[in-house]
Amino acid sequence: MLTALTRLLPAIALGLGIAAAAPAMADDGVKLQIKDNGLARTPPMGWNSWNKFGCDIDETRIHAVADALVSSGMKDAGYQYVVIDDCWQTGRDTQGNIVADAVRFPSGIKALADYVHSKGLKFGIYSDTGIATCQGRPGSRGYEYQDARTYAAWGVDYLKYDWCNVATQDAKSSYMLMADALAKSGRPIVFSICEWGTHQPWEWARSVGGNLWRTTGDIWDHWEGPGNHGDWHGVLDILDAEADLYSHAGPGGWNDPDMLEVGNGGMTTTQYQAHFSLWAMLAAPLIAGNDVAHMDAATHDILTNADVIAVDQDALGVQGRRVFKGAGPETGQEVWARPLADGGRAVILLNRGTTPQTISAEWAMIGYPAATQMQVRDLWQHKEMGAYHDRYSVTVPAQGAVMIRLHP
Ligand code: GLA
Repeated sequence: MLTALTRLLPAIALGLGIAAAAPAMADDGVKLQIKDNGLARTPPMGWNSWNKFGCDIDETRIHAVADALVSSGMKDAGYQYVVIDDCWQTGRDTQGNIVADAVRFPSGIKALADYVHSKGLKFGIYSDTGIATCQGRPGSRGYEYQDARTYAAWGVDYLKYDWCNVATQDAKSSYMLMADALAKSGRPIVFSICEWGTHQPWEWARSVGGNLWRTTGDIWDHWEGPGNHGDWHGVLDILDAEADLYSHAGPGGWNDPDMLEVGNGGMTTTQYQAHFSLWAMLAAPLIAGNDVAHMDAATHDILTNADVIAVDQDALGVQGRRVFKGAGPETGQEVWARPLADGGRAVILLNRGTTPQTISAEWAMIGYPAATQMQVRDLWQHKEMGAYHDRYSVTVPAQGAVMIRLHP
């Protein structure tokens, strides 16, 4: 949600002294070792600093987040990766090694990773394919292998790799280069491709070693509509952009509709429940983006909803799809469905409208004969609702969602 105003900052203005020479491209003779790294068999879960804190991060804050992930029960609910986003880095030393901000991270990144690991969590970091990050910090272009070795030595488990200041770089080969560097670093590192969907990464990201790939520009803490002159996208805009991408997701490689805004204050509890439900339907990485050390009970209950998380993490790994979109008097009504490993379905009845509506999920929409008796569980009430045939109809609040699980 924060501004990416330096997204297109020209190299010259950065004063980073980085050579302009192009790095060795993946198809220019570099022997690649890219293979399935075996990670992210289910969508990664964790926390990232960007949505709430932007550049205002330091080691005290990250310690507090790691502590809170444990004490709040979020770790037990499945949140694993603590990821520091842009602005942790300030320059390079004379050997070209990336240097962390010594004021904000006086103990260094290795010590921070050690602290996160001591809590039973994993540690993630951020860099950029170009010469500079979106906030004008040093990018990894030309330093891919050196940076990957540094991350591995620090104990990094996850890399989010952004797409600012890339000039004429080719997306696929740029990401391939870092994937190869990570593969050769000697440490298993989840590779998060953050290219905003610009070059249809769902078509190639998995083949170049990506474990997740952003499908859209940045989320902002908003139900619907753009912000920042079109740079930011609301929950429903991202949902619509991802609706047809389901065939590309699966164990090891996931569409990433961006990090969660749950708890950041711009939406109602009802909208946040829908946001969380929809991300689980999309088999999205669940990367919390709020101040977990100071969250209210409603935020906590959404982020730790075990019924919804179980859908997101379902072993089948099939992304849900929209099976009904209402028109006329049913405008704003949608039904989404996702097959689950137990033979059942997760279903969302979504009301995009501004007044409550009764919505029906018909078995015919989701691939069951109408006569099938289905047990229905409401995943926000945490309650078995009984057996139904033909359909399940329920009143859904304005700009909200009911999420259920069906068992034949
Ligand atoms: C881009 C990314 C965001 C965030 C910022 C940091 O905008 O899409 O998620 O990482 O850069 O500058």
